[in-house]
Amino acid sequence: MYVCLCHGFTDRQVRAAVTEGAGNTTAVFRQFAAKPRCGKCVSTVRELVDEAKGGCGGPGGCPCGKRG
Ligand code: FES
Repeated sequence: MYVCLCHGFTDRQVRAAVTEGAGNTTAVFRQFAAKPRCGKCVSTVRELVDEAKGGCGGPGGCPCGKRG
């Protein structure tokens, strides 16, 4: 699904960016040679990064308490 409508990148692309070394939201945007425009996607990108790194919903549980 599309995560960022301003730049047209998807959740798969965000996960791939994390796999390639992007460790936070800023690094993900840098990977796409983009900067947040409207900002509506930033929290979703952050959650996807956390999830891909094994945080929320990952094998280590949810450190922020947003997910079970
Ligand atoms: S939806 Fe990503 S910056 Fe607007």
